[in-house]
Amino acid sequence: MVPSAKNGPSRQAIEPVDDFLRSVAPALDRGGLPARVFNDTNIHALELDRVFARNWVFVGHETEIPSPGDFALRHIGEDQFILVRDDSGTLRVLLNNCSHRGSPVCRAERGNTTHFRCPYHSWVYKNSGEWSGAPLKKRAYQTLDAKQWGLQAAPRVETVHGLIFASLNPDVPNLNDYLGGMRWYLDAIFGLNEAGMTVIGEPQRWKVRANWKSAAENFMADAYHVPALHRSGQDVGVFPEIDSAGGAGTSRHLYFDEGHGMILNRGFLPAPMWHKTGFPAEVATTFQLDRLKPDQRDFVESHALTAGTIYPNLGLVRVPASPHPGALPVVFTYLRMWQPCGPDTIINWNWTLGWKTASEKFNEDAYIAALAMHGPGGIFEQDDSVVWTGAPQAGKSAFARKRRMNFNYQLGTEGMSEYEIDSTWKWPGHATTTVMGEAPQRAFYRRWLQDVTTP
Ligand code: FES
Ligand SMILES: [Fe+2]
Repeated sequence: MVPSAKNGPSRQAIEPVDDFLRSVAPALDRGGLPARVFNDTNIHALELDRVFARNWVFVGHETEIPSPGDFALRHIGEDQFILVRDDSGTLRVLLNNCSHRGSPVCRAERGNTTHFRCPYHSWVYKNSGEWSGAPLKKRAYQTLDAKQWGLQAAPRVETVHGLIFASLNPDVPNLNDYLGGMRWYLDAIFGLNEAGMTVIGEPQRWKVRANWKSAAENFMADAYHVPALHRSGQDVGVFPEIDSAGGAGTSRHLYFDEGHGMILNRGFLPAPMWHKTGFPAEVATTFQLDRLKPDQRDFVESHALTAGTIYPNLGLVRVPASPHPGALPVVFTYLRMWQPCGPDTIINWNWTLGWKTASEKFNEDAYIAALAMHGPGGIFEQDDSVVWTGAPQAGKSAFARKRRMNFNYQLGTEGMSEYEIDSTWKWPGHATTTVMGEAPQRAFYRRWLQDVTTP
């Protein structure tokens, strides 16, 4: 049989996955990562089982489903779930497969309902997932134990600043412990006032031929690519001083042993927009910075740009950009989830967030700026979508596997660049002195390797 183009060369020609994974740690120690990790069906299967079904995964924002009965379809790994607020107001994450024969019970992307009725034989479930009834019940299921036949529910659901995470692992550490030091920064990004943030519109979704890890490592730390790949952002006037965003002088990395990471920038907004928090006065005055610890307040008032990844697949970005060429930049905030669809494809999910206390005009400008940069046709997004296709192509290449092709993660290793841990950093996490390095990416892949190699 001719091997399919999608799955790559015949399995017999490839080193067994366990042996291969044992070779990844020494490669990482040398600043390398084998191309194969970016396109391999066996490794992908391990990721679904040991990364996505084991950790906390972002599924949505509370403001998407504010009322009892509100629901939206979401994914954890490649499984589809119904994110729903049940009649009692409790958040549930329910596998969208009927307990009878597995048919999806919910076909609408979002809506409001008291019950889900399966189209196949019409079993009915409450919006809490409990089994509620079936046709001809008295004749067909006289002794059925309803408690056993509800929809399968994610055993753990927790929220932080309105962000909803679910885990399929009943023994996962609580969300705060899982986030580690990252929680401190989430307070400083999302907790600027009690009202908090709200999603603007529905999330955009689009498919990209990429491996999810390329996106995750990019958002958490790849400042190096910004002035190179995204130079057109400056050329057309929507992203001023792109060299500064790329790390010329004011940027640093921040990373955590849990696998999360961020790029921080001390701010490069033009003077009229610079109001400590990076927001215009009409928004900044609605912030209640006394809710924060003094150190967090220091951080908020000194760092406008943040981009990052919460392991495994949630990106967050808070950066300034102009909603229209020539207009003053506005700081927009968005969440990005990389839904894996096989080893070489992702669906990007984008939620732009606005401040509940901000004017409609500010939130609309922020939304337009976010879409113009990172929407499906965004000026940044189009660049990234093209270059990320390369890793899965190399990953399935018979030639690259034979040559044991490694990608280069040596930036910032001994003697390569001016890049070291900043021993004066007084806030949580490991901070670096510049962004001319790849310590967060190496930490991310160490965490990933630990997951995929632990049964
Ligand atoms: S498969 Fe759902 S009722 Fe039969
Ligand atoms: Fe990019």
